[in-house]
Amino acid sequence: GAERQNSVTNNNSPLKLFTHAKTTITEIFKNIALYVNDSNKFLDDVKKSDKNLITPEKYVEIQELKEKVNRILTIISRDHMKVVFFGRTSNGKSTTMNAMLRERILPVGMGHTTNCFLQIEGTDKAEPYVLTPGSDEPKSISSLGTVGNALSREKLDSDSLVKILWPKEKCRLIRDDVILVDSPGIDVSANLDQWIENHCLDADVFVLVISAEATITVSEKKFLHNVAQRLSNPNIFILMNRWDATANEPEMVESVRQQHLDRGLEFLCDELHLCDRKEASEHRMFFISAREALLKRNKDPTSSPRTGFAEGHEERLIEFNNFEHEFEKCISKTAVQTKFEQHTNRGKGITTTLRETTANIANRSQTLKQESVQKLTQMDEKHNLLERELRSMTESAKDKIRHISEDVYKRVAQTLND
Ligand code: GTP
Ligand code: MG
Repeated sequence: GAERQNSVTNNNSPLKLFTHAKTTITEIFKNIALYVNDSNKFLDDVKKSDKNLITPEKYVEIQELKEKVNRILTIISRDHMKVVFFGRTSNGKSTTMNAMLRERILPVGMGHTTNCFLQIEGTDKAEPYVLTPGSDEPKSISSLGTVGNALSREKLDSDSLVKILWPKEKCRLIRDDVILVDSPGIDVSANLDQWIENHCLDADVFVLVISAEATITVSEKKFLHNVAQRLSNPNIFILMNRWDATANEPEMVESVRQQHLDRGLEFLCDELHLCDRKEASEHRMFFISAREALLKRNKDPTSSPRTGFAEGHEERLIEFNNFEHEFEKCISKTAVQTKFEQHTNRGKGITTTLRETTANIANRSQTLKQESVQKLTQMDEKHNLLERELRSMTESAKDKIRHISEDVYKRVAQTLND
């Protein structure tokens, strides 16, 4: 089963939807760049032969498209998926993220630990490093123990952002363009609006980590209400963490689970109106133990003992895998829609401008008629091709996600039966 599990986590991840789409749209824009170049050459000729066929403004506009396409290509290369984790102090946000990253990267511990925003993103370098606000100087990863930790004396403002550049080759999530953001406990800062403004507006997914020993608090709800006001239909997952605590009280498990489900669904569905109850209970709420998941996955055997699993941990680990799968489906789909739909529209805008300009010239010129009609046919072909590619990208993205999720589902089911 282990090998198959590996292939689940590597090749068939729903995150590939995003990485494929990114490759595809990059190709499309490179094609558009060629199209722009061609058109520029053609317009140069036109301008030389007859000045009245194209206005100076139009000529400049077309020339500037080259820059525009390059800018879009740069934006695309930086596009990523972003998830923000939040919740009350000590609920296990940092532990959950470490479990997903399969390594103990973020500081965790009792009491108030994370003291500012910590963003983990990919680097092509072999060694990880840390960037603190206001300085370009890379710092060692061991400085996280002090800069990102509330127990240290070097205090940063809770709203500030420390970046952790993590080698892409070390972690699949990071390699597939996911950026993860850890936050301080929601109850230790009064400035929640500032948090949303500075760190949450471009997030594709929010993960609320709750302690199953407690319940959703007023401040957590208030934060999400504010998020929902700023972003329409945010994607929110609720993790009932520390579910291992139920091993001590087996007779209570079902009634406690029901209580948490009721309150969670009431919040997501009746208060925030994000989705219906069936969708939310199947895809948005999970009962996990981040501590056990991290123990199970952490590759460095010296960093934590492999004991400490409570009764029923297999089920909680499956639930953690299920959460990750739903999370990957959700974040890649959202990111493709929000980011690439815009790019697609820009691409269409550019090809349309080029086409119209050429058509205009053909209509107005007798001398250039022959040549431009030829050119126009060529451009028409290119234009149609690009249109088709752009359209099929969004379509095939939908198709691909269905395929991928069916396949992964089958494989996971098989693994569990082994
Ligand atoms: P702050 O950074 O202070 O806001 O806390 P946090 O939400 O990041 O919590 P953190 O991950 O630091 O975990 C707090 C403590 O709870 C640590 O000692 C963890 O080992 C422990 N913990 C986290 N998840 C679990 C869990 O699922 N079960 C149990 N039993 N303990 C957990
Ligand atoms: Mg923390």
